[in-house]
Amino acid sequence: MTKRWRDIGSLYQIYPRSFQDTTGDGVGDLNGITGRLDYLSCLGIEAVWISPFFTSPMTDFGYDVANYRDVDPTFGTLDDFRRLLSEAHARGIKVMIDLVPCHTSDQHPWFVEARSSRDNPKREYYVWKDPQEDGSEPNNWRSQSGGRAWMLDETTGQYYLHSFLYTQPDLNWDNPAVRREMTDIVRFWFDMGVDGMRVDAIWGISKDPNFGDDTRNPNPPHDTESYGAFIHDHCKYGPHFTQYLRELASVCDEYSDRHLVFEFYPDAQLGDIYEQYREVIHAHPRGSAFFMEHRHMSWHAEHTRSAILDYLHRSVGEAIPFFCLGNHDQPRVVSRLDYERARALNFLNLLMPGISVVYYGDEIGMENGVLAATQIRDNFSPANSPVDSRDLERTPMQWNSSSFAGFSTAEPWLPVHENRSTVNVASETGDSRSMLAMHQNLLKLRQSMPLL
Ligand code: GLC
Repeated sequence: MTKRWRDIGSLYQIYPRSFQDTTGDGVGDLNGITGRLDYLSCLGIEAVWISPFFTSPMTDFGYDVANYRDVDPTFGTLDDFRRLLSEAHARGIKVMIDLVPCHTSDQHPWFVEARSSRDNPKREYYVWKDPQEDGSEPNNWRSQSGGRAWMLDETTGQYYLHSFLYTQPDLNWDNPAVRREMTDIVRFWFDMGVDGMRVDAIWGISKDPNFGDDTRNPNPPHDTESYGAFIHDHCKYGPHFTQYLRELASVCDEYSDRHLVFEFYPDAQLGDIYEQYREVIHAHPRGSAFFMEHRHMSWHAEHTRSAILDYLHRSVGEAIPFFCLGNHDQPRVVSRLDYERARALNFLNLLMPGISVVYYGDEIGMENGVLAATQIRDNFSPANSPVDSRDLERTPMQWNSSSFAGFSTAEPWLPVHENRSTVNVASETGDSRSMLAMHQNLLKLRQSMPLL
């Protein structure tokens, strides 16, 4: 019997490409996750969040979905997923999957149809605008993955919006048919027994209906044309944000104990960040927002204390606090701080009320990978940067000290880190000061003390 979300103490994030390969192709898969459930159980984990494993051309490694209702062959099959789900439930582990509602892949059949002609019925599933008189983009919006957020479709002569890569066209949430499609997709997975969804990039579901220019940032970063050179006061959090979010989350009401947790980074440039939290968290009782402020905070006890208390203060009603130290988009916590500070912050995080989120490998103190420019696979800008690429936090899970770390029998898609932190070194030495032992002790403590 799995516990209710209210009584769960931990959530373990798995980036499926990097957790465990069972087919010998150097890329992790769903059967690999199933095979490691006993490890997660021993660790004291009560829920997992699996990053996207849906059919995808992988330009953003699964965050570019071409079929929301199937598994990409890289990761296995729908039956593999069903088995994972039932094996997890048999161990009392809940399963949360990733919903990517704001954009699809440009290979999704909806977009293939939409771009085929201006009067195609699927055209309004996406956001199209005429060029300005001089042929330029409809406004100054920037893509979060670098460059402009508009791509000219030569065939139909209009620009389409892409808040991320040009292979990820934005869905038009102002179209009720799109909102219905998304709620049906949520139902598809909830009917199968999935317990919850982590909802990707939620800020983009509503935009300025007039498509006004974003304001220039008065303190721009070095690159004055980059995303950070603008205040995003038109391209996100539009007037229908709360309504659409509530519509999506209300699917949970049709089921017992389902939960949504929204990807969320407060944006200081958009005003009171705690008001933003309030808007997201209070949108629906079965919705929560991740606490990610550790990512940006200096090592300062008072800042940490007040940010945590403010977040807890907003997490009233049925909202569940979800405390994170990192994820697949942020540098590893050990590399951001150092081992001792990261250990202290992990200690704190594991004792927070609500749910402590553990990013795979953080429990053994994994560090950012060391990659040459030619080894970078991520297409987000700065592309090919061995310093900033998100690949650094996505390297293979280090299970043991064999050449591919027990992750795969073949050369992995990203290189294994050369350091010695592995699951079995930590458990074999039995060092009670190790990161792993600390996680295990505190996670077990959480299981037996539901008030934490
Ligand atoms: C979210 C995901 C990130 C992805 C982006 C576009 O921020 O966490 O990995 O690239 O959305 O879907």
